[in-house]
Amino acid sequence: MTRSSPEPVTAVTDLASAWLPARMTEVERRLGETVAGWGPELGGDTGETLAAGGKRMRPLLVLLCAGRSAGLEAIRAATAIELVHMATLVHDDVLDDAPLRRGVPTVYANSGRRRAVAAGDLLFSRAFAVLADDGGEDGESRPATDRQVELLAHASVALARGELAQRRDAYDTGVSIERYQLRCELKTAALFECACVIGASRSAAEEAALLDFGRAIGLAFQLLDDVLDVVGPPERTGKARGTDLLDGTVTLPFILARDADPSLRETDLRALDAATAEQVCDRIAATGAPERVRGEARDRVERAKQALRASGVGGEELQMLELVADGVVERYS
Ligand code: IPE
Ligand code: IPE
Ligand code: MG
Ligand code: MG
Repeated sequence: MTRSSPEPVTAVTDLASAWLPARMTEVERRLGETVAGWGPELGGDTGETLAAGGKRMRPLLVLLCAGRSAGLEAIRAATAIELVHMATLVHDDVLDDAPLRRGVPTVYANSGRRRAVAAGDLLFSRAFAVLADDGGEDGESRPATDRQVELLAHASVALARGELAQRRDAYDTGVSIERYQLRCELKTAALFECACVIGASRSAAEEAALLDFGRAIGLAFQLLDDVLDVVGPPERTGKARGTDLLDGTVTLPFILARDADPSLRETDLRALDAATAEQVCDRIAATGAPERVRGEARDRVERAKQALRASGVGGEELQMLELVADGVVERYS
């Protein structure tokens, strides 16, 4: 199964002038170098995770927000953030009992829980090593600042807290919107925020605007991911419909559908199987909730673009970041 959706990252790198694709290629090279050489087990699992692909949204954000005048430290930050993202996905698939990711079997499915935990740990630890290593690469590049390390560590902890909150809420069909939003902020928006500020230092006002931008597109991104889990189609998402429900994760489409169809609250999520989970997805879709969640995501993208325009980022970087923001929605529409 492969994704046939338009890729926001490809759309941007195809349009951008040469500095951006060149830097994305360098990030890719560094990712490959980082996951190699860890032996058949750890190296095999992390290598397959990298080979499975991914949109590389977060490194793209790092490079664009840092701007074309940024040095190698932006490339290191972009590489590090993708490694943290990969680590969280490998661990997320353990927590979610997920068979498929990016259209191929997860590390958890292929190699089991223990190896998936270890592979995620390797990716986490190398992320910080990559960020900190100035490698003597050129006279201009500086080692990571304490602040960059702190930003990445902060986002990593937020992700762990978000995942734990989600497990705590599992199978609760009455979970509140506020609680859902907090989970999204922690498990998804925090890393997007980090991506927007970790690559280069800026004034406090510019940084605050970029944090708002990252947070808004991160939330939109998760909202749409949750819609996709309900509506599919699997050829496009690389995973079956209803995967979230099957592991007890109640998301905004369900929460909104619950108001229109209160009997949904009585659903025994623990008793679902693949077929009945799809039936619940159909009931959610019948209430129009997925379309409302899409609308909410579109609003957030608009707000993200407003924050961006207030951030002081200009020129090609501004144009490309607007494309990324639009791409978050387009990918799912
Ligand atoms: C998946 O993120 C996890 C979520 C936050 C929904 P992506 O959709 O960016 O994952 P890849 O890297 O492109 O596979
Ligand atoms: C996002 O949560 C995963 C992380 C932020 C680690 P999901 O569980 O919704 O992501 P997918 O759907 O598995 O990619
Ligand atoms: Mg998951
Ligand atoms: Mg999850």
